[in-house]
Amino acid sequence: MNSSELKKALQGLNYPGIDRTIGELKLLGEIKVTEDRANIELLTISDESYLNVKRIIEENFSDTFGSLNITKKNLGTKKDMNYGNSADPNNRAPYAKNIIAVTSGKGGVGKSTVSVNIAIALAQRGYKVGLLDADVYGPNVPRLTNTDLQRIQWDDNDKIIPAENYGIKIMSVALTTPAMDTPLVWRSSVAVNALIQFLEDVAWGELDFMVIDMPPGTGDVQLTVAQELPISAAVLVTTPQIVATDDVSRAVMMFKDIGVKMAGIVENMSFFIAPDTKNRYDIFGTGGGEKIAKKYEIPFLGAIPLDMQVRESSDRGEPPVVLGDAHIKKYYQDIIDNIFKNSDFTL
Ligand SMILES: Nc1ncnc2c1ncn2[C@@H]1O[C@H](COP(=O)(O)OP(=O)(O)OP(=O)(O)O)[C@@H](O)[C@H]1O
Ligand SMILES: [Mg+2]
Repeated sequence: MNSSELKKALQGLNYPGIDRTIGELKLLGEIKVTEDRANIELLTISDESYLNVKRIIEENFSDTFGSLNITKKNLGTKKDMNYGNSADPNNRAPYAKNIIAVTSGKGGVGKSTVSVNIAIALAQRGYKVGLLDADVYGPNVPRLTNTDLQRIQWDDNDKIIPAENYGIKIMSVALTTPAMDTPLVWRSSVAVNALIQFLEDVAWGELDFMVIDMPPGTGDVQLTVAQELPISAAVLVTTPQIVATDDVSRAVMMFKDIGVKMAGIVENMSFFIAPDTKNRYDIFGTGGGEKIAKKYEIPFLGAIPLDMQVRESSDRGEPPVVLGDAHIKKYYQDIIDNIFKNSDFTL
């Protein structure tokens, strides 16, 4: 096996635990084969991911070569690092000063609810905010913002005019379908194209923040967002039940590996406050979110309780930060304060 054959074979290896190849994640540096010795340089950022990738290469190639020398390229400080797709991403949204991506390992944990309330709370502080629903397979931002009856229109320059409510601009594929509950069964290439169009062909105007409600998991849309946009802050939402699961770890690892800056973790539906007695119940135990934040050395941004008001008002399109009780608003306000503390925004 010569150098280029080895390179090709390595590129096709799956990164442990996620459905992405090492080639796709651009984790390979220089590869050189001399006689039965292979020198492989990796462009991983964290030690953990270096060891993960090293292990998978050893498992596959230690029988092929007499010696395998797998090293980690010293990438220097984060500022001058320039490798891989997302350490030096494209910028398809030059009109946005900062981009906040709200993600999760699993679905149904409250990403959309958190995205909507964060976006509106930023607008309440006087910032110009756009909210992009990148969950192209299950778009529900329009329902949560009571814009689901609006349909997109074009301006004189053939740009799409985004929907608007509660002081923010909103774009979602759900605004482009004949009816809001039209099922979307898309190939991922079509979904990715729709997303790019929403970045490039929408009249967003100048934005201080673009908040992106991501689909759950670590698929093509997530990778596209990381490659096509300079994300200022990724916010990972989880719930106590799944806080310790592999899905959360995978999402954190993927963002770390592709060089996206994690602002931190939000634990949603964290505890329950009985509406009648105001007693607090930690149904799923406490401290899970903080523990995982510590494990991956990312900040813990706050916990939001499981609250009937959040669900009911959200599902009516009345976001709690606009129409909820003061104590509910405060949870989201505190999270924004923490995101600011842990991010380096341009304003
Ligand atoms: N803190 C909360 N208290 C009570 N209900 C909540 C809370 N956060 C979210 N919900 C409810 O949980 C459900 C799922 O929330 P949401 O749609 O925001 O999750 P998601 O992660 O975006 O889901 P998906 O992966 O399907 O896009 C919704 O009905 C929402 O109203
Ligand atoms: Mg959602």
